[in-house]
Amino acid sequence: KPADHHDENLFLDCLRSDNSSISQVIYTKYSPSYSSVLSSSTQNLRFSTPNTPKPQVIITPLDVSQVQAAIKCSKKHGLQIRVRSGGHDFEGLSYVSHVPFVVIDFINLSKISVDAKQKTAWVQSGATLGQLYYRIAEKSKNLGFPGGVCPTVGVGGHFSGGGYGIMLRKFGLAADNIVDAHLIDAHGRLLDRKSMGEDLFWAIRGGGGASFGVVVAWKLRLVTVPSTVTRFTITRTLEQNATKIVHKWQYVANNLHEDLVIEVGLIKMNSSMLAAFSSLFLGGVDRLLPLMQESFPELGLRKDDCTEMSWIESVHNLAGFDKGQSLDLLLDRNARSNGLVVKSTTKSPFKAKADYVKQPIPENAFEGIYDKFYEEEGETAFIVLVPYGGKMSEISESETPFPHRAGNLYKIFYGVSWGGDGISQRHIDWIRSLYSYMTPYVSKNPREAYVNYRDLDIGINNPGYTSIEQASIWGNKYFKNNFKRLVHVKTMADPHNFFRNEQSIPPHTSRR
Ligand code: FDA
Repeated sequence: KPADHHDENLFLDCLRSDNSSISQVIYTKYSPSYSSVLSSSTQNLRFSTPNTPKPQVIITPLDVSQVQAAIKCSKKHGLQIRVRSGGHDFEGLSYVSHVPFVVIDFINLSKISVDAKQKTAWVQSGATLGQLYYRIAEKSKNLGFPGGVCPTVGVGGHFSGGGYGIMLRKFGLAADNIVDAHLIDAHGRLLDRKSMGEDLFWAIRGGGGASFGVVVAWKLRLVTVPSTVTRFTITRTLEQNATKIVHKWQYVANNLHEDLVIEVGLIKMNSSMLAAFSSLFLGGVDRLLPLMQESFPELGLRKDDCTEMSWIESVHNLAGFDKGQSLDLLLDRNARSNGLVVKSTTKSPFKAKADYVKQPIPENAFEGIYDKFYEEEGETAFIVLVPYGGKMSEISESETPFPHRAGNLYKIFYGVSWGGDGISQRHIDWIRSLYSYMTPYVSKNPREAYVNYRDLDIGINNPGYTSIEQASIWGNKYFKNNFKRLVHVKTMADPHNFFRNEQSIPPHTSRR
């Protein structure tokens, strides 16, 4: 039964009677700061319009008992919950729902404690990646963590969907380096790895946030990084043989030394295409240059293209900040930088999609990609190619729910953004037509996708009754054979499907 105003009041009464201190962190549509709290972590302005459905209530818990109260009372009064950590979900699922709902926003639960001796850290879900990396580097120059590049991404969603960064070829995903977690389940119980059991612990490390419970905190195994790493970003125009070099990159990037990752950004600048090769090498330039000469001479990398720095400086640099800008920007959950490929000085509406590539794409197919870019007005679209191989190929497909391991040369990210607020059908149609153009060149049966690059175009649950068959349309793309095990875990952990959304894992015989 959908909740109405009466249910909302009952819900609020329930919260207050369950938890006496919760009033200070409740925001209803009548609270003066409701809109600013809602928009603070809304990262995609496609979901920030007057027509976007808004939560009945936002709660920003200060402790676990307030999260438990929110779960207990939402369940009792028929409100759906959406959990938000950093708010980067591409489809806004952490703060938009088409049924009456409550947002539990983790903004106040962002504590990080690093144990440099044990090489571990506990991090609460509301922390951002930038905050985590900063706190690790504060304790040791030789420790790091292999998560995503954008510092404002929240660890809550990121880790539960896998989470990759530019060290993935050496250390795998963020989720591959998680050793414990604190989760509140559908009964409101606080569980750790031991009490939740290995199945549930498996599911929350890549099975996508929000299907299994609310993750309060994660325990990480930190990785060792050298005191000096090397960064370069070099660009090649079409006249400088960009297409040939990118074509060659497909054969070498996934076979390079695992200390070396070279991503490729394809962008349109001043009406012509450009390939940007952006790299992190876990070592000094004197070791990098011979490696590049041996394996990828076509790029023509020179010593003065490279800059040596500490690992945390590379994090700051990869995020698009300039050398003169303070490292403290990594702590700021609203800091914006101006990278070459991702121009994100302000929040904007966007639509993104992803693909996996198992066979090199023929050279002439790139011409078709450029034609698509020439169709698109402005300079707001980009593609990023992320090489796999190394550690990514050593981990089995079933080790975590994230199945895209050996056999993948690279992943493609497609993104387009536009000005103003709201939906631009023209841009959405454009990215769909690019995705359609790519069909012959990318993975098939299923056409694989990455759950952290959420895309509702690939299938959604039916409202009302979520059938396994319907969910397997998108589920097999994100998780391949792991989808079945995720359904099994969901059936055990949340048989009544309390934690649900457009792309949540359904239990067997779900009727809600
Ligand atoms: P958000 O709060 O929107 O949550 C995402 C999903 O997880 C939602 O379904 C939400 O309900 C659920 N969730 C959130 N917190 C939860 C919790 N505590 N317990 C249970 N469920 C929870 N990815 C990547 O792998 N590498 C990268 O480099 C980047 N870079 C990047 C840059 C930018 C600008 C964006 C917008 C996105 C990325 N991503 C990425 C994708 C990112 O990993 C993905 O969107 C994450 O889910 C975001 O996590 P947040 O907590 O920020 O999102």
